[in-house]
Formats: sequence, structure tokens, C-alpha cells
Amino acid sequence: MKTLLFTLIFGVVLLAGCEGQDTLVIYTDRHYETDDAIYDAFERETGLSVEILSASADELIQRIQSEGETTPADLLFLTDVGRLERAVDADILTPMDATIVAAIPERYVHPDAYYTGVTKRARVLVYHPDRVDASELSTYEALAEASMAGRVVIRSSQNVYNQSLFASLLDLQGEAAFDAWLSGLKSNLARRPAGNDRDQAKAVFAGEADVAIMNTYYMGKMAFSDDPYERDVARALEVFFPNQATTGTHVNITGLGVVKHADNVEAAEALITYLLSENVQNVFAATNYEYPVLESATVHPYIEAWGAFNEQTIPLSRLGDLYPTVSMKVDELRFDQ
Ligand SMILES: [Fe+2]
Repeated sequence: MKTLLFTLIFGVVLLAGCEGQDTLVIYTDRHYETDDAIYDAFERETGLSVEILSASADELIQRIQSEGETTPADLLFLTDVGRLERAVDADILTPMDATIVAAIPERYVHPDAYYTGVTKRARVLVYHPDRVDASELSTYEALAEASMAGRVVIRSSQNVYNQSLFASLLDLQGEAAFDAWLSGLKSNLARRPAGNDRDQAKAVFAGEADVAIMNTYYMGKMAFSDDPYERDVARALEVFFPNQATTGTHVNITGLGVVKHADNVEAAEALITYLLSENVQNVFAATNYEYPVLESATVHPYIEAWGAFNEQTIPLSRLGDLYPTVSMKVDELRFDQ
């Protein structure tokens, strides 16, 4: 498997032009080294070669748009449905053969199969048991109540993980309740939103806050980190799945779609089939602490120990229309200020 530097993109065009049908080119913003072993195994099993171009989702979407019909990209693999919806809106994907995704729950697949989820992650509450009793926690909504004043941390509202969580809550709560909630959450923050998801857990560990909103796999990554401090953080904190008696915990996907001007649709669909196979779903779960989208696949024991939970049931593609409203609302509220 080859990893291509973003700046070498014109080299990629030539390379893809030479290697033709045996080379599959994936543009991705997934930032996990463990994916490489999966692509290497696919190469060994199929004789195809895989080339990876890594950059941010927006850079990749723009790149595919500007490359047009000459794009070397066969697949676009992005984290978060918000970014996948941006790719659909940009008209750079084409529907895949729907039989490939027949085993995947419908809410994780675009209704016209422009993309499918490959892995999923829950956006949960992580708390310090010395300062929070689990009975104090219930829902995302309750984080806006007075009892949580000065106790909550979350990364920037501009981050797509939060935009998707907020879009789901806007859909479920309706606009008036959502506005009140967002404002209540902002006033309960222990500090201005800063850093990434792990930094929120670290702030709770350090005593700056009591409850963090973050994605599940970062707890797995910290628990098995090379950094002893991160292992201490994960060991000290507990995970809580909000909204279990109401609308369910927000779950998002990383997923991929076939690029509209892909040269190699057959190989692209073969790779999607491979990524959704039970063995590979098990590898994603075992190495990156994500939940497999294939329900028969095995969850990592560390993650599984948290138990089963109820997920939001809204189809993720429905969030697509809500992002502009969410962006406007967080900006109006100056959520990050
Ligand atoms: Fe992430």
C-alpha cells in the first residue's frame, strides 16, 4: 500500500493513469494508522494495489471537484456523516450497488447508497466518579440544567462531531427547545471550548470539569495508549450513555462512497464489500476501538464492557439539511467565546 503526499497530487494523476485498473485510489481523512494493515491485507488477497491520499475532508472534496473527470480517486472515505453529506451535496459521489450494503442497518447508509457507514462511534458523557454520581447524569438535555453549572467541557462547536450531535438534537427537540438547551449548555461550560476530544477527558481528570462530551473510541485509544498519563486518564474516568430512557445516544459513522468519476468502480465496490465483511469489521473494532456497523461483528472487550445501549434512531442522512442551521445558531450564540 502506498501513502501519497497531498502535495504530490499531480504525480498521483500520472501514476493512476499508468497503473489503470489494478490500482485503487482512496482519498481519506481517517487519521488512524491501524487502517493501513487492512489495506495491505486487501492487496494481498486481491492482487490490486491501494493508494491512499490523506488530507482534511474539505481539502479532499475540493480536490475531487477541481479534478473533475480526471480525478484519480475511486473512493472517498470520511469521518462523520456531516462530511459525507457535504460530499453528496458537492455531487462528487455516485451510488454504489445497493446489494453491497444489504446487511448494514439502514440508518447508517445513504438512502440512495451514495455512501455507507463502515465504523461507528457514540458521543457519550465521560465523568470523574469522585465528583459525579452516575445518578446525576441522564441526558444531553440535562447538561443544561442548573446542577451542571461550571462542570461541563466540550470541544469547539465548529467541529463536525459537535455539529452532528447538535443537528441530531435539533431534529429531536425542535427549534425552541434546542435554542434554550444550547444556551444552557454554553452557560454551564467550565471553560471555553478548546482542544480535541481527548483534551476534554484530560480536563475532567485534572479537575477543571466533572463531565466531558466525547467520542467513545478516544477512551479506548487512551486506555491502550503508549502515554502513561493517557492510561491514567482513561482508568480514572467512567463512560455514561445519555438518553437511554428517551431518544438514545448520538452515534455517528465513518463511511465511504464511490467517486462519481472513478475509473475503477468494480475494484472500489470490492473494497467496500471487503471493509464490511465480518473479519474486517472485527479488525476495525479490535484496533481502533470503534463499533462495527455490521451487527454480527465483535466489539473490543474494553468497549463491550460498557454494555449495550440504545442509539438515536433517526437516519443519519437526515442530519444533512440541518448543518447550516446549527452553524448559524452556534455562531449567533458565540458558543466558543
Ligand atoms: Fe476523531
